[in-house]
Amino acid sequence: MTDLRADPFDALAAEAATCTRCGLAAGRTNVVFGVGNRQARLVFVGEGPGRDEDLQGEPFVGRSGKLLDRLMAEELGMDRTQCYVCNTVMCRPPNNRDPRPDEMAACRPYLDQKLALIRPAVIVTLGNVATRALLATNEGIRRLRGRAYPFGDAQLVPTYHPAAALRSGGEVVAEMRADLVRAKRLLAGRR
Ligand code: URA
Repeated sequence: MTDLRADPFDALAAEAATCTRCGLAAGRTNVVFGVGNRQARLVFVGEGPGRDEDLQGEPFVGRSGKLLDRLMAEELGMDRTQCYVCNTVMCRPPNNRDPRPDEMAACRPYLDQKLALIRPAVIVTLGNVATRALLATNEGIRRLRGRAYPFGDAQLVPTYHPAAALRSGGEVVAEMRADLVRAKRLLAGRR
């Protein structure tokens, strides 16, 4: 039998599958590690699993995910096999509340290791929670979006969470599209 642990990404996923580093472990159905291409040049980071994601063990499978997939296809010409999609925390916060700082801190080494193994050129953060966590700021997404930020060897492009776009409609969707076009330019080596 193949030893899955020989691959560092598989080893990390195996470790995450039994993680009890924070209280969210007690309420989860599945650890939502992430999905997509481990050699991707683009990684999306969301907030945390909702009900559908917890049940299916995959990020962004609900309504927000459908919008994300559509914008990904329309603005980047990509699907999930060409990028990687994960979250700031891997277990569902109760009643879809925001993950707490201690929960994000407990999960952060997993996110950092995923990013270190994938080594993307561009990271798109979806919404306030992911953007604030990775940029270590309290500033809101409205102010943060519209430019790219250096993040290690990558460029970080903040955009709205697709759930916010679903709530707010046209203008927010248009701004998300513009942010994805920025990500595409950066992937092509242009500013
Ligand atoms: N919202 C998120 O932030 N992540 C998911 O995986 C699903 C919804």
